[in-house]
Amino acid sequence: MVLDDVGEITRIDAGGMLGLIQRLADMTLEGWLAAADIPLPPRRPGVVVVAGLGGSGIGGDLLRALLAPYSPIPIVVVKDTRLPAFVGPETLLFASSYSGNTEETLALHGAARRSGAWIVAITSGGTLARRARAEGHPVVTVPAGLPPRAALPHLLMPMLRVTASLGLGGPTDSDVRATAALLRDLAGRLGPAVPVPENPAKRLASRLHGHVPVVYAATPTTAPVAYRWKTQLNENAKVFALWNAFPELSHNEVVGWEGVQAAGAPFVVILRDEDDGPRAAREVEAAKAVSLSRARGVEEVWSQGMGLLTRLMSLVLFGDFVSAYLAVLRGIDPTPIQRITEMKRRLQDGPEAR
Ligand code: F6R
Repeated sequence: MVLDDVGEITRIDAGGMLGLIQRLADMTLEGWLAAADIPLPPRRPGVVVVAGLGGSGIGGDLLRALLAPYSPIPIVVVKDTRLPAFVGPETLLFASSYSGNTEETLALHGAARRSGAWIVAITSGGTLARRARAEGHPVVTVPAGLPPRAALPHLLMPMLRVTASLGLGGPTDSDVRATAALLRDLAGRLGPAVPVPENPAKRLASRLHGHVPVVYAATPTTAPVAYRWKTQLNENAKVFALWNAFPELSHNEVVGWEGVQAAGAPFVVILRDEDDGPRAAREVEAAKAVSLSRARGVEEVWSQGMGLLTRLMSLVLFGDFVSAYLAVLRGIDPTPIQRITEMKRRLQDGPEAR
């Protein structure tokens, strides 16, 4: 079994994605510390907007889920080339682009400058860093040389630090330390050296191998994590994958399962959390009975630890490992993402994003 052969795992994972996944705990602390001295807007904003795509946008989705239970103001994530019309001087806008060169994010950053929003750029460099510095906007500089999706904590944690300083809720210093401790422990338990029988991430990757993964969040709170699983399965394992969240999927996708044939049936992963509540638990069981009997298999993955940040990040870490192990099973290096590069190349010489 290739997943029990550490030498073979290392050979296939030539870009070192598994090593980066194991560093998630350290990155969480580093990202939190990186924004300690970022200048804050003079008064509390009326809305927080996160502008970012792909691996640089998922931090915004997680920020929204983490602050939703506390924040008195809306958190809006924009993955577009145009900003909503409400963006203005009362907006705090995080321009999040790991490379600093993503066309859509640069267009959003330009529009935000014109709107008078308070802008914080989060980037490793590129045009975004240059433009933000030239205009005197705060810049959180993240370490260079990483695949953007592997740098998630470097992009998420500075935003959480700024929003915490503005009294919008979210994790405290000790919550962040607890998260890092849990992630470190979990990375040890799920790492490449732990053999398949004791390693639930390797076992789940083996079960998913050869089937379309469908990742369901039991509630909207874990929805961004289900989406992270899907995108990591896309980019690391290079497989087609689907995601959705309860309760919305009970109102449409459960019917779609009628069209699923035994050959080619997807494998369902359901993300569970201690805060799901009894209604979501009943709903998951109902969906299993009504529709998911058509799946190739169903497996629940539970969050771990205490506090929402820890629990969501524990699910992120688990999914990151699963995606990388599935890549290894497929004999594919998780790191290269040629088709994204090719898309950007084809678009760069055309009309600019408006
Ligand atoms: C690459 C990745 C991509 C990028 C996206 C935006 O690892 O995950 O989804 O994040 O193409 O690029 P950046 O992050 O440089 O703004």
